Amino acid sequence: MAQTIPTELVAPLFNPLTFGEGKRDKAHEILRKIRADYPLAKAEVPGFDPMWIVSRYKDVREVLRNDDVFRSAIESKTLVPQSGKQLVAEFTGGEKNILKTLVHMDGEEHIRHRKLTAPEFSPAGLSKFVPQVQESADRWIKVMEEQGPEMDFAKEVAFRYPLEVMMDIVGVPREEHPRILELVQWFFNFADPDLMRPGADPTDPDELVKTWNLVNQEFGKYYSGIIEDRRSCPVDDVASILANSEKHGCPMDPRTMISYFLIFSSAGHDSAAATTASSMWYLAENPDVLAQLRADPSLVPSFVEESIRWASPVQQFIRTAAEDYELNGQQIKKGDQLYVSYFSANFDEEVFEDPYTFTVDRRPNRHIAFGAGDHICVGSNLARLELKTFWEKLIPRLESVELAGEAQMANSEFVCGPKKVPIRYKLS
Ligand code: HEM
Repeated sequence: MAQTIPTELVAPLFNPLTFGEGKRDKAHEILRKIRADYPLAKAEVPGFDPMWIVSRYKDVREVLRNDDVFRSAIESKTLVPQSGKQLVAEFTGGEKNILKTLVHMDGEEHIRHRKLTAPEFSPAGLSKFVPQVQESADRWIKVMEEQGPEMDFAKEVAFRYPLEVMMDIVGVPREEHPRILELVQWFFNFADPDLMRPGADPTDPDELVKTWNLVNQEFGKYYSGIIEDRRSCPVDDVASILANSEKHGCPMDPRTMISYFLIFSSAGHDSAAATTASSMWYLAENPDVLAQLRADPSLVPSFVEESIRWASPVQQFIRTAAEDYELNGQQIKKGDQLYVSYFSANFDEEVFEDPYTFTVDRRPNRHIAFGAGDHICVGSNLARLELKTFWEKLIPRLESVELAGEAQMANSEFVCGPKKVPIRYKLS
């Protein structure tokens, strides 16, 4: 008999504010208790479909690696209230999700669409972008140099650097990057007063779906011009691959193509930005760690890996069982939905020694922040490249850094990171 998690314990996980206010301490506390007392149990939160909460590393990995059973396209892939699901169907003519990205596909369809661009983001494919990434890192470090000794690092650098790298790779002109950023911030932060779209009502349970629909339309308008341009005049960029996907054996309808552009414009930088901002926040509060890195720069790659675990920007995605399955002694039934917590898995004390300590030289570091299985992050190599490049260049020059005000997380129960990291610093 499946256990049900007390509603008062689990309901805050469904609320964006829990991950924003208080540096996610509340979310950590809830998930720690769930891992200990309800490792695989059901949540029945009013307004939402019932779902299993998968909190332990071992179970998260087993679910993600069994893509044939735990599917992405059967139901909503993200956490949406029941009323919002009806609205999604209305907006899309009966679909389960507003978007149809790689994240929302299964099986052969997923493989075909993934193969279209995955080679660009493989280590070999990325080698041609290395000089570009270095140039962008230099440019944003120069911004630090010019704006010092104080800045909001999240807003001035972390949001901008991975955005620039990714949008350059896609082929979006630099003057358009701020507009892309704004739309993506609306998309991920519909409930944050500083980042949400003007006119959004975070008290409306359907705000998420309304915002996603609107952002999707805005991206549709923007990218249709780029698609037209690259069809008539293809160049060496990802936009040209997507716009001419039919020639690469992967014809796409307009909704799928816009979604493909949208996932690169959102997932392609937001999580890397969150990780960059969260690491700077950590360094600003822990001068001993900065000193350790400056004394031994060979630690930067393991610092980057730990910073990804520490930031765990993707909190969760939903999977739906396509058949009955026994998971950790529990009977999952066909049609059951599972809230898969990458965030919880990354702090599972059974796998990570002292998980709430940022351990610069943690080895091994088997974090699952990029997911696992068929949907494992396409951009993990790029994320590692841009983070490593940035910190390898900055750390030898960063003589000191401290907080110059209150750092704050954005309100989001889905993809979550700092929205404000005010720092005072000295660069050599
Ligand atoms: C998928 C995390 C950076 C593009 C994912 C997933 C996670 C994730 C957890 C799996 C979703 C699932 O299970 O369905 C992260 C983190 C990043 C990061 C933590 C940075 C630290 C990037 C970058 C790109 C990117 C730089 C740029 C190409 C994607 C795409 C998918 C994805 C396209 C969908 C893959 C699929 O469903 O086949 N990411 N990501 N991500 N990510 Fe990332």
